[in-house]
Parts: sequence; C-alpha cells; structure tokens
Amino acid sequence: MTALNVVVLAAGQGKRMYSNLPKVLHKLAGKPLLQHVMDSANALNPSKLCIVYGHGGEAVPNAFPECSATWVIQEPQLGTGHAVMQTIPHLDPDGLTLILYGDVPLTQTSTLRRLAEIAGQGKLAVLSLELADPTGYGRIVRNNLGDITAIVEHKDASSDQLTIREVNTGIMAMPTKHLGRWLSQLKNDNAQKEFYLTDIIVMAVRDNVTVAAVHPSGQWETLGINSKVQLAELERTHQAHIARALLEQGVTLADPARIDVRGTLNCGQDVFIDINCIFEGNVTLGDNVSVSMGCALKNVTVASGTQIAPYSVLEDAIVGADCRIGPYARLRPGTKLCDGAHVGNFVELKNSELGKGSKANHLAYVGDATVGSNVNIGAGTITCNYDGANKHRTIIEDDVFIGSDTQLVAPVTVRKGATLGAGTTLTQEAPAGELTISRASQITIPGWKRPEKISKK
Ligand code: UD1
Ligand code: CA
Repeated sequence: MTALNVVVLAAGQGKRMYSNLPKVLHKLAGKPLLQHVMDSANALNPSKLCIVYGHGGEAVPNAFPECSATWVIQEPQLGTGHAVMQTIPHLDPDGLTLILYGDVPLTQTSTLRRLAEIAGQGKLAVLSLELADPTGYGRIVRNNLGDITAIVEHKDASSDQLTIREVNTGIMAMPTKHLGRWLSQLKNDNAQKEFYLTDIIVMAVRDNVTVAAVHPSGQWETLGINSKVQLAELERTHQAHIARALLEQGVTLADPARIDVRGTLNCGQDVFIDINCIFEGNVTLGDNVSVSMGCALKNVTVASGTQIAPYSVLEDAIVGADCRIGPYARLRPGTKLCDGAHVGNFVELKNSELGKGSKANHLAYVGDATVGSNVNIGAGTITCNYDGANKHRTIIEDDVFIGSDTQLVAPVTVRKGATLGAGTTLTQEAPAGELTISRASQITIPGWKRPEKISKK
C-alpha cells in the first residue's frame, strides 16, 4: 500500500459563527466538527495526519489532547494553497496526499477512498458536484472534450464561467511529489490576493497529469459550516440519516424527526423509542426495550425487555433485563440494576447496585450502596453516604424491607431479611431477620389545646 498523508485545513476564522469558540470546535452530533473529519481520515489508516490551524490559536490543538496528529500553524492565513504549503515539510514525500477541510464534517470514508484510489493512479482527484446555486464556490472548468482544465474562484470568474454549475468542494487527492512542486509555483495575483490551492489544476494539466472528478453520494457530504444556521441544518440532516438507519434495522421510532443520537446507538429487535430522546456516547438497547419520551441515555447498556418511562436520565449505567425505570428516575454513573429491578419516580441512584427484583419505587436516594435481591426500599429512603469529607458504603443484603423515610447513615449494613421501621435513622448494623426501628415513641397529650390568636384591641 502506498503511504497516505491526510491534510486537514482548519486555520480559517469562522466569523459568521459569532462565537468565541473556534469554528472547528463547534459540535455536530455532540462531537467537534474537526473530530468528525479526523475520524473519517483515521478510518483510512493514514501514515501521516497533518492539521493546519491558525485562527483560534492553541485552543484548537488543546481541544484534542489525545490526538496523535501533527499540528501545523499557519500564521497569517494567506489562502488554501498557502495552508497546504505549511504542511509539506511534515508529509511523507512518497505516496498520496488527501486534502480535507476541518469545517466539512460529514464526508464519508467511502468517498475519500474513491479519491485516494484515483490519486493512486497518478492523477489529481477533485471532489465536485453540480449545484442549482453555485454562488461563492470555485467553478470546475472543462474543455470541449469534458476534461477538467481549471478551477476558477467565484470572485475571479468571467460571466461565462459564472454560469458553470459544477463546483469544487475543496476536497482533493494527488501524488505528494506533484503537490510539493505545484505549491512552490503558486502566485497570489488574483481577486483575493491569496495563494489558491485550486491553481494547481492548471499546473496538473500543463504537466500532463490527468484531473479527474469524483462525486459525493449527496450534497450533505460536502457541506461546510460557516454559520449557526448551517450547523443546525446539517445536524438535522445527519440526525435524519441516523434515524433512517435505525428504522431500516427495525427499530420503531415514534417520530424519526424527534430523536438525537450523539454517539453510537445499538439496538436489538423490536426496540421502541418515543419522541425527544437523546442518546450520547455508547448506548446499547437489548431486544424489546422501550424508551419513553424525553429520556436521556449516555453510555448505558440496557438488557432485553426493560421499560424506561418518561423523563428518565441514565448515565454510565448498566441495566439488566425486564427492569422498570421512571418516570423521572435518575441513574448516575456507576449504577447497576440487576434483572427485574424497579426504580420509580424521583429516585436517584449513584455508584450503587440494585439486586435482582429489588425495588425503590418512590422518592429515594441510593448512593454508594450495594443492595441485594428482593429488597424493598420505601419512599423517602436516603443513604447518608457523605459525611462532608468522605463517602461511605451502605450494604443492604437480600430480602430486606426498608420502611419509608429511613436514613441509612453509612458506613452501615442491613443484614439479610431485616426489616427497618418507617422513619428509622440507622447508625449501626441491623441484624438479620429482625425488625429494627429508631423512632421516638408516640404519645398523646390528653386535653391539649391549640394556641389561639391573641386579639389586638
Ligand atoms: C474554497 C475553494 C473553492 C471551493 C470552496 C468550497 C480555494 C482557493 N477555493 O473556497 O474553490 O469551492 O472552498 O467551500 O481553495 N483555510 C485555511 N487557511 C487559509 C484559508 C482557508 O486553513 O489561509 C481553510 C479554512 O479554514 C476552510 C478551508 O480552508 O476550512 C476553505 O477555506 P474558505 O475560506 O472557506 O475557502 P473558500 O474561499 O470558500
Ligand atoms: Ca468556504
């Protein structure tokens, strides 16, 4: 395999975003625009990934601490050709170079592969498409035989050339040895006084290097982001594609226009997802899982048959089969629900395991707890896991019944089969099989009278 360099241009400003955040750091489907581009580039296993940055300064590379790319600063920004020129010393001189834009997030790897293949044949491959309104784009100029002879920028085009509807997307691939030579010959004698990458087309023709066009599967693959309007539009397009793919796999969506997947959503058979749910990170839903409206799931695995009622929020949690969750439940990081567990309204779990068939159906906080199977946690129960400095664990063994409004002051253990009376403040171990209760005994004061209002005369 020939070596592949990928160059990503990300030095431009993005004035029309009206934001302090550099343009390529704005998110589409929960991921920075530039990360989308890096991910499609990395899918090609490039020998070198070079990212040109400038506007936004170090904030751009700093946003990707884990990225192994070579970051090349372009200062000042004198055009797309000038940007690529900065990377030449860092590129593998053999093989191919593929040029991408950091603000064009959705180009498919299969499309990039087609460009690389053509460049592998010694040609200059350009990703182009026909637009009903080509305003602003560089136009693809062809001769009588249909061969590409030049790309002319909108601002430099003649009135004849302005009628051309085939445009340059900016994405191209070519043998690296030609690229270096051509870039060194670029001039900026044009309307924008910039070094245009597009001027290499004429040089390729001069050098008898064939220029070939590749077309994307859809315009969305080539759409760049210059404003919040374009960002929002591309987000909807992208989400529509994800929703369609889910439907095609057999997932039932109450409304494909009202689901957002910001990561990866894997679904088993006969999954139902109601409106306005958000899935982030890696989410897996097993067979027959149903997620009702307004739920947010982030990095969650849900086994088959579980039903999640409206407005539940789950993060970094593992949920077993046939569980009932919500409405209004919150599973915070480190929660594990075993099969058949029930977590009802206004119940919060954190770093806790709820055993098989155990229930916390109403208004409870279970934090840093290990709860066995067939446990019933009454309404208003709270694990007092935090003493202001450290967190402590609560252990609740199998078959325990915890009365309503109980406080478990951790570290504390409730042994198997124990019952805690309602209102108990548990500070010491509750023995197995017994009723433990801490409650001021009830008294009645006979003849007691309510105070009466003193009249002001
Ligand atoms: C460019 C193309 C044009 C094409 C259009 C598609 C050139 C000369 N023109 O035009 O043919 O139709 O894209 O959108 O190539 N960038 C840098 N450094 C610079 C200038 C730009 O890194 O000095 C980056 C930008 O961040 C952006 C990309 O290059 O990601 C394109 O820049 P932009 O200013 O949008 O190019 P256009 O003038 O629109
Ligand atoms: Ca542009």
